[in-house]
Amino acid sequence: MSFENVKSSPWRFCIAPMMQYTDRHFRYFARIMSSEARLYTEMVVCDALLHAGPERYLTHSTFETPVALQLGGSDPLTLAQAAILGEAAGFCEINLNVGCPSDRVKSGKFGACLMAEPQLVADCVRSMIGVVNIPVTVKTRIGIDRTDSYDELASFIQAIHDAGCRVVIIHARKAWLDGLSPKENREIPPLRYDVVRQLKRDFPDLTVVINGGVDSIAATIDHLHFVDGVMIGRAAYNTPFFLAEIDRSVFGLTARPLDRETIFKRYLAYAAHELEKGTSTRELVKPLHYLYQGQPGARQWRRHLSERCAKTGAGIDSLADSIRHVERAVNADHDALGAVTTL
Ligand SMILES: Cc1cc2nc3c(=O)[nH]c(=O)nc-3n(C[C@H](O)[C@H](O)[C@H](O)COP(=O)(O)O)c2cc1C
Repeated sequence: MSFENVKSSPWRFCIAPMMQYTDRHFRYFARIMSSEARLYTEMVVCDALLHAGPERYLTHSTFETPVALQLGGSDPLTLAQAAILGEAAGFCEINLNVGCPSDRVKSGKFGACLMAEPQLVADCVRSMIGVVNIPVTVKTRIGIDRTDSYDELASFIQAIHDAGCRVVIIHARKAWLDGLSPKENREIPPLRYDVVRQLKRDFPDLTVVINGGVDSIAATIDHLHFVDGVMIGRAAYNTPFFLAEIDRSVFGLTARPLDRETIFKRYLAYAAHELEKGTSTRELVKPLHYLYQGQPGARQWRRHLSERCAKTGAGIDSLADSIRHVERAVNADHDALGAVTTL
């Protein structure tokens, strides 16, 4: 498969759904850096959405677009109702979570445990496709517990394909539902990129997005020779600045990537507006923590954000002041370097 073929896929580069991380503020922050990356919400549990209403769970800025809404559920009817709300709220895709291994998710009968029920997942997909005009996709694992052969995975994919699903995102490791915590299930079962690549060969008309352990642009580009898209989770949160390079390196756009200070200033303008609307500084500060990761001053930056800005009542001035802490630390670093070289 040539890299050129996937240049037209809207799923070429995606930022993974992550509970308590990929909220609307993080998505806004990511969008400042990349106009092209496809963003995903945190998982929204269907019943909660239908109970509390769209405002609580679906509010977001049009600046974030394109954003996919990830739903958790296993009842075809309620999923269809939730999908309708998602489309009306402006999301570009409805994604069904069939990959999350947490106990809470298991007891609600959604997430990764649904891999054992391909027909139910197919019914859910069919039900949502019947009521929305945006793509309905599935995010899954390569297997669960002892249901982990390639044939079982291929049958699962065939079932959702028959129901009309044309895009799958596959976390390239199985999940052990008994015995491993969600965190361990993101680290211990080995990554099997070969399995995901085989699926792409066996289902050539399916858009296959690979996920798990991808943490650089070079690795992204390498995967794009074999699959249609790459989804990145933790690296997008822990080292977000590389997102500024995505439009140029992965999408071939010519605009120069933004520098950290410009990204910060643009986010600051957004934060000022959000503060006026009553959003807490704590929430707004969270996406910024790792902007300077790996740079001189990164520690001072994080300390200032968590000690000064995250306090209740901290205003925009204290946030704006963060940049001066990095500048001071960088200058101190340069002075120290100067002192060493002039010895
Ligand atoms: C803190 C955290 C929360 C997550 N929440 C979700 C979620 O809501 N829905 C989902 O499908 N996956 C969730 N995941 C899994 C990620 O989407 C992704 O599949 C996983 O982290 C592997 O990708 P990575 O190695 O690039 O991080 C979460 C992962 C983390 C670290």
